[in-house]
Amino acid sequence: MSVGIESIGIKLPSFAIESRKIAKLRGIPEEKATIGLGCHMVGLCMNQETVVDLAVNAAKRAIEQWDGCLNDIGMIVVGTESSLDEARPLSAWVAERLQLNGAVRSYEVKHACYAGTLALRQAVEWKVATQSPKCALVIAVDVCLYEPGHPAEITQGAGAVAMIVGQDKICSIDLRSYPYSEPCFDFWRPTGHAFPIVDSSKSLNAYLKATENCFNALFLDQTDLSFESFKSICFHAPFPKMVFKAFKHLATVFNFSECEHQKFLCDKILPFLTWNKEVGNAYSASLWLSVAQALDQANTGEKIACFSYGSGFGSELFVIERTNGSGFWAEDVKTDLAKRKEISIEEYDNWHKLVNHPPSRQ
Ligand code: HMG
Repeated sequence: MSVGIESIGIKLPSFAIESRKIAKLRGIPEEKATIGLGCHMVGLCMNQETVVDLAVNAAKRAIEQWDGCLNDIGMIVVGTESSLDEARPLSAWVAERLQLNGAVRSYEVKHACYAGTLALRQAVEWKVATQSPKCALVIAVDVCLYEPGHPAEITQGAGAVAMIVGQDKICSIDLRSYPYSEPCFDFWRPTGHAFPIVDSSKSLNAYLKATENCFNALFLDQTDLSFESFKSICFHAPFPKMVFKAFKHLATVFNFSECEHQKFLCDKILPFLTWNKEVGNAYSASLWLSVAQALDQANTGEKIACFSYGSGFGSELFVIERTNGSGFWAEDVKTDLAKRKEISIEEYDNWHKLVNHPPSRQ
């Protein structure tokens, strides 16, 4: 049985501001945001828009474009670090709004930005283990906010990617995958804290170590594969420069020439980061936005490497392959970008000052 993705839905937040404007507000050179970190826009949930709205709307879009119905869903799993409650899973808020109930497994997965990937892998493993004719609704969703004045404030963002896991209608997902984890405090958010605590250099180094170990494991196991084999190489993108740093690290580990390095970067990485650059760090949705963009541009039979990283830290790499169908989910991105409102720096500053408590419970 070939397991894969049958439908994809994306929801971007309704408000945004340019990263460089946040940098200017905080007295940071604008070029640090645009060149130093490679950031462009920060997507923001304002005016009562919540993580639940993002998740529900992404899910609705995935379901609308799908040839199945709610009765065909046997599992809903939400990967997030923007949870609303210590006990009630975010999936319950989403399932309630979708009116999805009955013989449905419903839960939330947490592991920083790695949560969406874990949710997807669990859905794949559930499908294989149970041979269920039903599908799983997987949603990777997050709202990323840092304390006002924190250097990472310019990397903030938000977004949701919903995927219906069943047959390989859009892509197949390789059952083999290559995880690497190492417990550490590189980025964490203690219970009740609105903002994360970050050990910046530890997080950068952990990310590099994770890439090296995961790609080594993939190429040791699948000797028929090389970087050439992929149409695109997608990474978790906390900010675009992190992805370039990770790929530069891989170039050293795998001995690329400078020419090869630049060619891979231009052909296989840069074109699939433009949606990320429109929303900033969407935490667990970040990798899946890049993968969704890569799938939209891939032809039948082309392979995509998916590298997931979540602080704490856990990481995983695996390969998916485009099967067929159209990239209808690109319309979601187009629609949301056309409709979203760009706010002024004054509006941003006033609003961010009020975000000093956990999100309100419904
Ligand atoms: P920082 O210390 O503010 O920045 O950290 P910096 O001084 O290292 O500068 C960054 C880059 O900007 C440097 O370039 C500078 O030279 C350049 P590089 O050396 O890297 O090539 N720069 C300039 N360039 C042009 N003109 C200028 C200028 N000034 C400086 N005037 C950082 C920045 C975002 C890393 C930090 O704020 C941070 O800690 N961020 C949060 C953690 C993070 O994003 N870590 C990444 C890996 S961990 C991860 O991805 C997980 C995460 O998504 C969470 C989760 O899993 O849930 C974060």
